[in-house]
Amino acid sequence: MDVIDLRVDAEDFTANPYPHYARLREAGPLHRIKTRDFDMVWLIVGHEEARRTLADPRLGKDWRTSGMWEATTNPINANMLEMDPPHHTRLRKLVAREFTARRVEALRPEVQRITDELLDAMTADGRAAADLVDVLAFPLPMTVICELLGVPDLDRAAFRVWSNQIVAPTGSGSEQTAVQEMGKYLAELVEEKRDSPGEDLMSALIRARDEEGDRLAPDELIGMAFLLLIAGHETTVNLISNGMRALLSHPAQLAALRADPGLLDGAVEEMLRYDGPVENATLRFAREPVEIGGTVIPAGEPVLVALASGDRDATRFPDADRFDITRDTQGHLAFGHGLHFCLGAPLARMEGRIAVRTLLERCPDLEFDPDGGPPEWLPGMLMRGVRRLPVRW
Ligand code: HEM
Repeated sequence: MDVIDLRVDAEDFTANPYPHYARLREAGPLHRIKTRDFDMVWLIVGHEEARRTLADPRLGKDWRTSGMWEATTNPINANMLEMDPPHHTRLRKLVAREFTARRVEALRPEVQRITDELLDAMTADGRAAADLVDVLAFPLPMTVICELLGVPDLDRAAFRVWSNQIVAPTGSGSEQTAVQEMGKYLAELVEEKRDSPGEDLMSALIRARDEEGDRLAPDELIGMAFLLLIAGHETTVNLISNGMRALLSHPAQLAALRADPGLLDGAVEEMLRYDGPVENATLRFAREPVEIGGTVIPAGEPVLVALASGDRDATRFPDADRFDITRDTQGHLAFGHGLHFCLGAPLARMEGRIAVRTLLERCPDLEFDPDGGPPEWLPGMLMRGVRRLPVRW
C-alpha cells in the first residue's frame, strides 16, 4: 500500500480536514500516511474499523514496551492514557469514582456559578463583543478542573502556553521544552500540596500514595495531575468553541434550539460528532500483527484512529456532513471507545451544556463578529479547534 503524503495539503487539511478524510474513506478504511510528525503511520478512517481498533487489546499505548522509542524519563508520561493493563486499570480505578455521572452532578451548581461569573464579566464592559475562547471556552473548564484537583492558584498563563504546545505544537522541539517545564512545575505543585493538603482530589491522591505506598508511585502522581489538567481543559475549550461555531453558522439549527431548549443535550452530542475537539485519538502501536479491513498492520507499527473521520462516515451517520441537532448521534467517537474511553465525559457534557445554554440565554443576538478576522486553526492532527472565536451580541 502506497504511503500518502498528507504534508502536501497540510494547511488546507488543518483548516478543513473533512473533505480529505472523505476522499480517504472512499478509497478504503485504512491507509498509510506521512505527516509532519511521522514518516509513516497507519490511519484508520472508517467508523466501524475505528471502533474496532479502539477496542482491540492488540493495540498498545505503553511506549516503554513497544521497543520503538527509548523509555521516557519524564514523570508526566506516567499517566493512564500512556499505559496498558494492569497499570492502566490500577490508575484509572483510583480516580474513576470522582468522575461518575452522580459525582459530577454534585458539581453542577459550582459549574453554573463559574459560568455566570464569566458571562457577567463578558457582558459588563459594554462593548458587546468578545473573543469567546478567552472569556468563556478556556477559563470555564480550566477553573473547574483546578478547583476539582485543588490547585486554584495554578499559574494559568504559563500552563496554557505549555499545554497548547503539548497538544498542538507549533515548532520542532517546542513540545519537548513544554513537557520538561511542565513536569518541573507539577513536581513543585505536588510538594506544596503535600505541605498543605485539603479536601480535594490531589490531596486524596497524595494520601493514597503515602498511606498505601505501592498504589501510586511518585511519578504517577505527577502524571495523573498532568493528564487531568490537560485532558480536563484542552478538549472542553474546543467543545464550546467548535460547538458555537457550528451553531452560529447554521442559523436554522440555532433558531430551533432557541425555540426548544429541550433540544440542548442532543445539540451538544451533535456538536461532538460534527466537529469534535479530538480529531485523532492518541497514538497506538500494534503489539502483534493486526488485520483490519483485510489489511495486516505489522507488529510494532504506529496507528492513528481518525475520530473526526469516523464521525462523518455516512455508512454510520446518514448525510453525515449535515449539522442536525435532532439526529441520532449514538455511537459517535468524540470521547473515544474501549478501555481509554474518556474518563471526563460526564463532566465535559455538563460543562458544554451549561456553557451553551447560559450563553444563548444571556446573549439573544449572539453572532460571529464580522471584524473578527480569519480563524487561526490549532496545528497538527490531534486537536481540532480555533485559537480565537470573535463574537458580538
Ligand atoms: C469535550 C471534552 C472532551 C473530549 C472530546 C475528550 C475526549 C477524549 C478522548 C477521545 C479520549 C481517548 C483518547 C484515546 O483513546 O487516545 C479521552 C481520554 C481521557 N479523557 Fe477526555 N475528553 C474531554 C474532556 C475531558 C475532561 C473534562 C476530563 C477530566 C478530567 C477528561 C479526562 C480524560 C482522561 C483521564 C482520559 C484517559 C482515559 C484512559 O486512558 O483510560 N477528558 N478523552
